[in-house]
Amino acid sequence: ASEAEEHDVVVIGGGPGGYVAAIKAAQEGLKTACVEKRGALGGTCLNVGCIPSKSLLNNSHIYHQILHDVKNLGDVKLNLTQMMKAKEQSVSGLTKGIEFLFKKNGVDYVKGTGTITGEHEIKVNPLEGGESKTLRAKNIIIATGSEATPFPGLEIDEKRIITSTGAIALTEVPKKMVVIGGGIIGLEMGSVWSRLGSEVTVVEYLGAIGGPGMDAEMAKTMQRILQKQGMKFKLNTKVMGGDVGSDNIKINVESAKDGKSEAIDADVVLVAIGRRPYTSGLGLENVGIEVDERGRIVIDQEYRTKIPHIRVIGDVTFGAMLAHKAEEEGIAAVEYIKKGYGHVNYGAIPSVMYTHPEAAWVGQTEQEVKATGKEYKIGSFPFSANSRAKTNLDTEGMVKFITDKETDRILGIHIIGPNAGEMIAEGVLAMEYGASSEDIGRTSHAHPTLSEAFKEAAMAAFSKPIHA
Ligand code: FAD
Ligand code: NAI
Repeated sequence: ASEAEEHDVVVIGGGPGGYVAAIKAAQEGLKTACVEKRGALGGTCLNVGCIPSKSLLNNSHIYHQILHDVKNLGDVKLNLTQMMKAKEQSVSGLTKGIEFLFKKNGVDYVKGTGTITGEHEIKVNPLEGGESKTLRAKNIIIATGSEATPFPGLEIDEKRIITSTGAIALTEVPKKMVVIGGGIIGLEMGSVWSRLGSEVTVVEYLGAIGGPGMDAEMAKTMQRILQKQGMKFKLNTKVMGGDVGSDNIKINVESAKDGKSEAIDADVVLVAIGRRPYTSGLGLENVGIEVDERGRIVIDQEYRTKIPHIRVIGDVTFGAMLAHKAEEEGIAAVEYIKKGYGHVNYGAIPSVMYTHPEAAWVGQTEQEVKATGKEYKIGSFPFSANSRAKTNLDTEGMVKFITDKETDRILGIHIIGPNAGEMIAEGVLAMEYGASSEDIGRTSHAHPTLSEAFKEAAMAAFSKPIHA
């Protein structure tokens, strides 16, 4: 190997956690390198996650809307090749944008697989092959992300038995799709293919869809809405296995309630039962860094492993597997390195599910608040009573505030509705600033906007809404 290059910070992984940490470190005047093995920056999120899925969600929504809701606008035909092209263009534009930001901020982009070989040493096997090189680092930030959890007995080929990576790249619309797992990936990707004409059946082990963290009332509402759009749900149902034939797949399921079994036919099966931390080839064993029983790298509150100058952020450690959570941690980890302090408010990280309508939430669910024994109030307001939603003929869903009965402080906000993902930002800010529902209810919101439903739900929590 050639002589080691010295850096203040070496980041392993160029996803939302890693690339943000690298840019921030360079901005702080630290000599920084970022090692990434996939040949493009942006990680799971930009390459095979957030961005390509949202491109398909947006275009499939437009297609579905014209086809079903506004028939008088004329005929519409699906051009799947073009839809995939639009997706690829969004992805490549954004990943190249990060490369540009690296150049602008002076981050060394090292293309290859990084393995920790010593407490201050990373060996990089270059992507294009050839001799490995060694980087020396005062600080290491691990941001190697996550991968889809496989389903035992169903071998992923990304064509017929797929994860989300296959689901963003199908070349034709499957007649029948079975989705194992009714969490965020299952509902987003299930929506895409259902809108494009596939008969989608979601099999969920639990009694509710939405994955961990969704308010129970919202999960029920969402299920009803998606059912109306044509998706089928089998809740409280265990997948026992599958028979993969040459032109048909049978997924064998069993009711978790009464043990009744049946087989569901599928052309394509999407496995969406969660993601697991990715540390393969990282060399944690070389320096004795531990992972927990779920494979997450163990860290303290300052993102330090037991080797204090090796920190960990994003999907590969604790907490929600979300791009913006990884980004916040990237900034905070660098601030700890540079200044000795950093901060992420884990109580105010929004979640958004980009179905139509969208679901978005921040803070606690009603079931979580109930479990604390705290007395609380609910204020809700339906979009069917909001003038803009009515004018747009897009009235499904509602805004729900959960507040502390005694102090009126906001404990959680849950939205299902058009643009919920943008609207939740106001709720996150309110929670960051410790707002009460009265603070929001007395704040002027422009008319006619969807955000008036947000204000009226807040009014409902401390007093009464006007329009319901
Ligand atoms: P990652 O983005 O996984 O990046 C890790 C990077 O490290 C990868 O590029 C990998 O190649 C690289 N790497 C791993 N090991 C090494 C090594 N040894 N050497 C060099 N490089 C290495 N989140 C949202 O907030 N909003 C969404 O809308 C959303 N949609 C999603 C849709 C899908 C289909 C999926 C799968 C995920 C989605 N997510 C979404 C989750 C989001 O993608 C992740 O939370 C986010 O990417 C985590 O960022 P990260 O930096 O921790 O890891
Ligand atoms: P998830 O954790 O959201 O949902 C998995 C679902 O599968 C759960 O409802 C679970 O009960 C169910 N399940 C688990 N094992 C099962 C089994 N054997 N049979 C039937 N059901 C089973 O995980 P998902 O949807 O795979 O997403 C992974 C991660 O990616 C999530 O943590 C999510 O945060 C992130 N993501 C975020 C998005 C967003 O922010 N919009 C979009 C897509 C993914």
